[in-house]
Amino acid sequence: MESTLQKLDELKGDRSNVIKALQLIQVHEGFISDTSIREVAEAFSMPAVEVEGIVSFYAQFKRNQPGKYMISVCDGTACHIKGSPQVLHWISDELGIGDEETSDDGLFSIERVACLGCCSLAPVMKINDEIYGQLNRKKTMKILKQYQKEPAND
Ligand code: FES
Repeated sequence: MESTLQKLDELKGDRSNVIKALQLIQVHEGFISDTSIREVAEAFSMPAVEVEGIVSFYAQFKRNQPGKYMISVCDGTACHIKGSPQVLHWISDELGIGDEETSDDGLFSIERVACLGCCSLAPVMKINDEIYGQLNRKKTMKILKQYQKEPAND
């Protein structure tokens, strides 16, 4: 966090850096909290409601804390053709949450993303930094079970 804070310090004051600052916070914390909104507003001497407006305008910013495991289901062209909507459906069914939602236990979030860059493995999903490809229902469920079994491990 120290380097993030240093970078934020370098950015503050110049309003053209607000988006850059928000991006930094999101990379570090995974979302933009109410506290971050207030801090950015203060750092750039602007009303919090204006920062909130920027955050809600850009789809890249998330206002809710993501789950411990972020499941990114690729919906690029190759994956879509190979059945990514079905993959998303299986996962949603299993976890009881939809796209852009987080499970009540805070363990899983699901998001639909653009090409993950490994189209030859389509359909593909990423859980945190781990890529899983050539998904079918059985394989997808098996992977999910591994994460459900080991919720305490970081
Ligand atoms: S389209 Fe899914 S990895 Fe490229």
